[in-house]
Amino acid sequence: MNAPAKLMTAKHFLDLDALDPATLRKLIDDAKRMKVARAGRPKGAHDDALPLKGRMLALIFEKPSTRTRISFDVGMRQLGGETMFLDGRDMQFGHGETVGDTARVLSRYVDGIMLRTKRHQSLIELSEAASVPVINGLTDRTHPCQLMADIMTFEEHRGPIAGKTVVWSGAGNNVCASWIHAAVRFNFELRVACPPEVGPDQRLLAWAKQEGGRVNLVRDPFEAVSGASAVVTDTWVQMSEADQLGEGGMRSRHNSLARYRVDERLMAAAGKDAIFLHCLPAHRGEEVTDGVLDGPQSVVIDEAENRLHSQKAVLVWALS
Ligand code: CP
Ligand code: NVA
Repeated sequence: MNAPAKLMTAKHFLDLDALDPATLRKLIDDAKRMKVARAGRPKGAHDDALPLKGRMLALIFEKPSTRTRISFDVGMRQLGGETMFLDGRDMQFGHGETVGDTARVLSRYVDGIMLRTKRHQSLIELSEAASVPVINGLTDRTHPCQLMADIMTFEEHRGPIAGKTVVWSGAGNNVCASWIHAAVRFNFELRVACPPEVGPDQRLLAWAKQEGGRVNLVRDPFEAVSGASAVVTDTWVQMSEADQLGEGGMRSRHNSLARYRVDERLMAAAGKDAIFLHCLPAHRGEEVTDGVLDGPQSVVIDEAENRLHSQKAVLVWALS
């Protein structure tokens, strides 16, 4: 018989707001330790400890990916486990089977499921019906694994993030939503500089306020970056929107976001101690100039590398 989902105790990694600050802090610290412990080794070599030996992780993608797919795959192998890549469009749930039935069946084959989905609701349904851990590999609403890498990268370059100021300049998208969760859980100030028509969800801002977080909307990006330790941006149109916006929608999105582009002038206003973060892939010349992305303040390649280390900490926490 299928046990009711509510009785299951799987440790899901769905969003940062669902986890307590102590757990998140431990994951970041574990990731930093794991990175140091295997420094200089070939990427394909195992870690010393193999906490996930014999474990199988399903990686399901309904959207393209470079970093998420490869970092989960390599990370799982370094920990002694195995992965199985699945294109969501080829699976039966892309053709009418319910997400719940998929979750119950997959739970009999694999020890964990990472999902990148177009519908946040699919992630929720999967986690409610699965008896194995479910990890959010990006939805139309959030990208928590990205934020674990971003916090780790910030701290490698600028020390503890608590009490610091980070500025998001651009569209209030899924990555921005996870930055809002992170600001509350890791206790730093987040200034979101964006036009009103593409701002973050009001419910998210209300949640941050209710939790005592310091998340502030600032219309002028130059005012926002004053005193910031990091400036962050992302593409102006996220994957799930690209098909819906149409040519006119794209044009107006670009027009309203042009003044939020992170360029050399904005980074100069932030000051030379501010780092630049971007989850990648970037649309060079749109949300960020080549000069900033490739410049001395940019830490985007460290940030991409840290997807690997921070997700390994999440995998050990969830699956071992
Ligand atoms: N940052 C990120 O999630 O990249 P991918 O889309 O390549 O996985
Ligand atoms: N905002 C981006 C993140 C990509 C990793 C998107 O969802 O398209």
